[in-house]
This record gives sequence, C-alpha cells and structure tokens, in this order.
Amino acid sequence: MQKEHSTPKNSLSLLHRPRRLRRTEPLRRLIREHQLTVNDLIYPLFVREGENQQEEITSMPNCYRYSLDLLLKEIKEAFDLGINAIALFPMIPNSKKDDLGTESYNPDGLVQRTVRAIKKEIPEIIVITDVALDPFSPYGHDGIVKNGQILNDETVEVLVKMALSQAEAGADFVAPSDMMDGRVGAIRKALDAAGYINVGILAYSAKYASAYYGPFRDALESTPQFGDKKTYQMDIANAREAIKEVELDIMEGADLVMVKPALAYLDIIYRVRNFTNLPVVAYNVSGEYAMIKAAASYGWIDEKQVILETLTSMKRAGADLILTYFAKEVALLLQ
Ligand code: PBG
Repeated sequence: MQKEHSTPKNSLSLLHRPRRLRRTEPLRRLIREHQLTVNDLIYPLFVREGENQQEEITSMPNCYRYSLDLLLKEIKEAFDLGINAIALFPMIPNSKKDDLGTESYNPDGLVQRTVRAIKKEIPEIIVITDVALDPFSPYGHDGIVKNGQILNDETVEVLVKMALSQAEAGADFVAPSDMMDGRVGAIRKALDAAGYINVGILAYSAKYASAYYGPFRDALESTPQFGDKKTYQMDIANAREAIKEVELDIMEGADLVMVKPALAYLDIIYRVRNFTNLPVVAYNVSGEYAMIKAAASYGWIDEKQVILETLTSMKRAGADLILTYFAKEVALLLQ
C-alpha cells in the first residue's frame, strides 16, 4: 500500500482514522450497514374500470390509473424485475359510491375482479388489498359519516365485510388503512372464522393525518368533501401514541405493522423497530414521491441518487419493507 505522507513528521499521531474504512468502493461495500434490495419493495398500483386505459396522475408523474388489462402487464413487468408484492388501490366511479361503502364488498367489484385476475395470471405475486371506505364513499372519508362524524364501530362492520370479500377473491394480505379502533382484531376474527387463516394483516398502525397524501387523493379522486381526517388519523406531533397504536394492532393480531408517511417520520420507524420484532413496513407516500419528481424535473436534484438515498434512510431507520411508487425504477437501478 502506498504511503500517504512523504515523511512521518507530516502526519498527526491519531489512533483512530475513520477514513481508513472509506478508501475504496469494495471497502465501503464491506463496511456497509444497510442495504436496499428489491426484496424490500412493495409496489402500490391504481386500478380503474375500462379497457386499454392508462391515465397519468398529474401530481404523480409516471404513475398511472390502469384498466385491468394494462395493469396485468405492469404487474408482470414488475414481477419480472423481482418485485414480490403489490398493493392495490381502486378508483371507483362516483355512480358506485354510497355512504355505507357497499360497493367495497361487492364480490364482483373492481378490487375483487382485479385480485382474481392477478392471481390467475401471476399467481406467485403477493397481492395486498386496501381496507378503508374512502374510495367508495362520496365523502372521501375512511369511515361511515353521520352528522359530520366518522362512526367507528359501524365502520368496522363494513371493513370486516370488505376484508372477507378481498380474502375470498385471493388477496394474500388485507391492509386496513382506515385507522378505526378495533378493526384489526375484528378482521382477524372474521378471517379465521371463515377459514382464511393464512391471509395476513398488514396494519397501517401509525398512520398520521398528513398533508403528504394529497397526490394520492388526486389519483383516486378521494379528497375529503368536508373537514379533515384528524379524528381518526394520528396527530403529526405525537410519537408515543404511535407505539400505543402499534401495540394494540399487534395484540389484535397484525402480522406486519406500518408507519405512514415515512420520510418525515423516520424517528417513528426507529421507535417502532425497537418496540417490536414483527416486520416493520414504511410507506413512502405520494407526496414524498411528488416532491422528488418535481425537483428532478427542474434538474435541481439527481433523481436516481435521491431516490436511493431516501429509501436507504428508511432501511437505516429500521424499516424491513417499503411501499414505494418508485419500486420499478429502484428495481432497475439495483440490477
Ligand atoms: C386511504 C389511504 C390514503 C393513502 C393510502 N390509503 C390516503 C388518506 O388516508 O387520505 C395515502 C397513500 C399515499 O399518499 O401514497 N385509506
């Protein structure tokens, strides 16, 4: 090895030189503590009615609402890139929305048909379905609305029906994103009673009332028609409460626990990681995606590097799995 200093008297006498371990790329790879891999990725996708439809979402460049035929192509491509799991979100036509969200458990509804088709075409891919009323409700709220209030227990009854119909269609995991109290336990009980013991629950446990969901609500046209979601989603200023929510969901039978959003909540991911031995999931949400896309479109940041740095920060904070709209791009980058 080459000498750094021409004469020993030029050198400080330091016992520790951290830079010694950063000298070359192979050495940095050897020392690296966390690694983002394609195995960590869950790819969220939007499905709509129709055929041969692929509509770009304005606030989420390169994300689309796909009709089923084109969605299957997109999933096949993702699977071929090594992505093991997708999370499905439906855009429901206004004509099918009602305040009880009845379309959500229609056995021939958009989600149910889509899950069956995916399971027929690409049976190995893990399909995660969303359990919440917002795409199905004219109010855009995650629960049943009465006199301007979001009802808890009545909503849970509907969520149970929705989860059962998704399990029946072939979902591998149901993912309650609604933040009603007691829904994980009620869904677990109903799934077991119906014999779906292997259908898992990915619980949106620490889900904050965040402004980072804006682009997603554009995608599904599910922006709340009145008020906000602060009576059920968590206050952005709270951290201990996240642990309470995670603890309850685990006691109620969650298989995977999620923190959402991810980037502004890395401290929460870290705390949840230290609290539980269950896999921890982070949701790199639509607003986080949109910010990177927007800055990159001006040439203000290096998109690829920023994507990898952002997702690696979630791994470093303690996430095992990451839902990200960048999934395909990342799978390609990591190849
Ligand atoms: C609703 C739901 C939301 C997201 C996933 N499920 C939005 C909300 O709670 O209003 C947001 C995902 C994202 O922003 O990427 N049940």
